[in-house]
Amino acid sequence: MSDDALVLGIETSCDETAAAVVRADGMVLSSVVASQDEFHAHFGGVVPEIASRRHAELITAVVAEALSAAEVEPADLSLIAVVNGPGLIGSLVVGVAAAKAYSVAWSLPIVAVNHVEAHVTAAWLFRSPEERRCPTYPAVALVVSGGHTDLVLLRSDEDAQVLGSTRDDAAGEALDKAARLLGLGYPGGPALERAGKEGQPTAFSLPAPHVPGYDFSFAGLKSALARLVEEMGEVSHSRIADLAASFQEAIVRVLWEKARAAALETCARQLILAGGVAANTRLRQVFCQIEADGIEFVAPAREFCTDNAAMVALCGATLYRRRGADDLTFDVFSALPWPGAKASTR
Ligand code: KG4
Ligand code: ZN
Repeated sequence: MSDDALVLGIETSCDETAAAVVRADGMVLSSVVASQDEFHAHFGGVVPEIASRRHAELITAVVAEALSAAEVEPADLSLIAVVNGPGLIGSLVVGVAAAKAYSVAWSLPIVAVNHVEAHVTAAWLFRSPEERRCPTYPAVALVVSGGHTDLVLLRSDEDAQVLGSTRDDAAGEALDKAARLLGLGYPGGPALERAGKEGQPTAFSLPAPHVPGYDFSFAGLKSALARLVEEMGEVSHSRIADLAASFQEAIVRVLWEKARAAALETCARQLILAGGVAANTRLRQVFCQIEADGIEFVAPAREFCTDNAAMVALCGATLYRRRGADDLTFDVFSALPWPGAKASTR
């Protein structure tokens, strides 16, 4: 596949219906994301049944918009890439069924993509040539999202080793739960970040979770915040800001300390921060400090941190170059081992 071949990416693993057209070298021609936040906000989290129904309503319009925004026709495409896990089964089924139908209708090869692996690939997307970055191995990647907190050593684009993962909540999940506790709304990560801007990150000292090695645990932090809120009773606007800033800082510290230690221990040449939580300004600021250790810091542009289909398209292009197309019988999976080899759970 040549660098200028065009790939259609499709992403429906959770509550964003997304499609994108990306060149095989990572240049993004279009990226359309239809957020379902307003439908789930009332429930304080994603309702799987609602998510799949909205995907079914939106998918064809979102794909049509991605093609028209990129000013391409189906005949201009060379590949379709779609996420088949990990994610919500009812949501994944909609994107995968649509992608298979487009593959047959337009006679295009199709590739199944691991959502978490795609988050890391997002670091190599660009809209203008000067934004272009390339992987340098060995690299350490931290994927922090609503469903994942994985620290991964990448020795090459085919050789990855998970160094650590969360033992309970994902970092984004912890931020979402903390935001709900503080009455800040959904999705919680951005709400907590906004609220915390007016607060003092040192106002409250939350316990640093002690987990050996490169694993993480955020459940204790969340319980400590719940206890604080209960003890305080009526909480003023400024104290909420302090609590938000302190909670965010505690999460940022843990992520930074483990990621830095992993990067130093493995003699990494790059530290990659990816996933929805990587959109967080404070987290990006702190991770930049790795440059002082002589390690390059790379994070996707904010629009490609949270769920999108451009990352799926580029990841699909890489997989297609490596191992060719998948046949149309591939399934969807709620859990997948890194980097998307065999399924562990249905
Ligand atoms: O990658 P993503 O869009 O979906 C999953 O794969 O889970 O990540 C969503 C998570 C949510 O927990 C959301 O609160 C968090 O990313 N998030 C943020 C920010 N933007 C999104 N967390 C902190 N600061 C942000 N600016
Ligand atoms: Zn994601």
